[in-house]
Amino acid sequence: MDKQLVWDLPTRLFHWLLVAALSAQYVTAEWLDDAMQWHFWIGYFVIGLIVFRIVWGLVGPAHARFSNFITGPVAVWRYLKTLPDASAPAHVGHNPLGGWFVIIMLACVALQAVSGLFMTDDVFLDGPYRHLSSEPTLQLMNTLHHTVIDILLGVIALHIAAIAFYALYKRQSLTPAMVHGKKTTRTGGISSSRLWRALLIAIVVGVTVYAAIFWLPPAPVDDGFYY
Ligand code: HEM
Ligand code: HEM
Repeated sequence: MDKQLVWDLPTRLFHWLLVAALSAQYVTAEWLDDAMQWHFWIGYFVIGLIVFRIVWGLVGPAHARFSNFITGPVAVWRYLKTLPDASAPAHVGHNPLGGWFVIIMLACVALQAVSGLFMTDDVFLDGPYRHLSSEPTLQLMNTLHHTVIDILLGVIALHIAAIAFYALYKRQSLTPAMVHGKKTTRTGGISSSRLWRALLIAIVVGVTVYAAIFWLPPAPVDDGFYY
């Protein structure tokens, strides 16, 4: 058994940038006055992160790929039965249950961020798609933005509780590998982080998200609002 690369650098960067950005989103919306402009900008960045992760889930290295950790119900059930067994062998990438949890987390973040595009702070700032939408759509997005955050907070709490469960009950410390990328394992390591590919995807995603937010929506009638 030796140390092998399991989490590629782009996946690790994605993870910790997401943690930082979501923390900033909470602080700028709930605790700070006058930070709404930052809330908007960081929200756009989160959309970029999610789009990047979706593409990376299709063309990234093995353990980042959706096809590697999205399994059927039988695999999830089989894994669930091994959960109480503290000595059950560790998974190299996401386990079948954790894999679905990742999808739920990504979906909640995506819903939260996209619904933000239709929000208003009722003072100066309108989301870039607000003026293009009908009243029922705006109502729906407003409800989503105020309720998905609670689901997301619950899901994040469960995620951190799961990490603690693995550390304390199963004696598997998962966090260091999300930092340096390596795990002690006999098989299953990846040979490279595919950094050039990641950089190219990041640039294309960055330009696309920028265009979708700042270029694509026709400008609203100038009423003194900006976004
Ligand atoms: C994942 C990204 C985002 C997170 C985690 C997030 C989180 C939040 C939270 C926690 C609130 C307070 C909700 C409440 O009090 O019930 C909020 C409000 C708000 N968010 Fe976001 N948000 C995100 C993205 C966005 C984006 C992209 C925009 C706009 C482009 C946006 C615009 C707003 C506005 C206008 C409000 C209402 C502020 C007010 O009540 O005056 N958010 N957001
Ligand atoms: C805002 C809070 C957080 C969010 C939204 C979040 C989200 C995620 C996501 C989406 C993944 C999947 C990574 C991927 O394949 O792209 C993941 C994995 C992981 N996260 Fe977090 N995370 C959060 C906080 C934390 C914290 C505080 C820790 C450490 C204490 C942590 C440790 C891990 C670990 C170790 C994994 C890999 C799990 C495995 O081995 O299967 N996360 N997280």
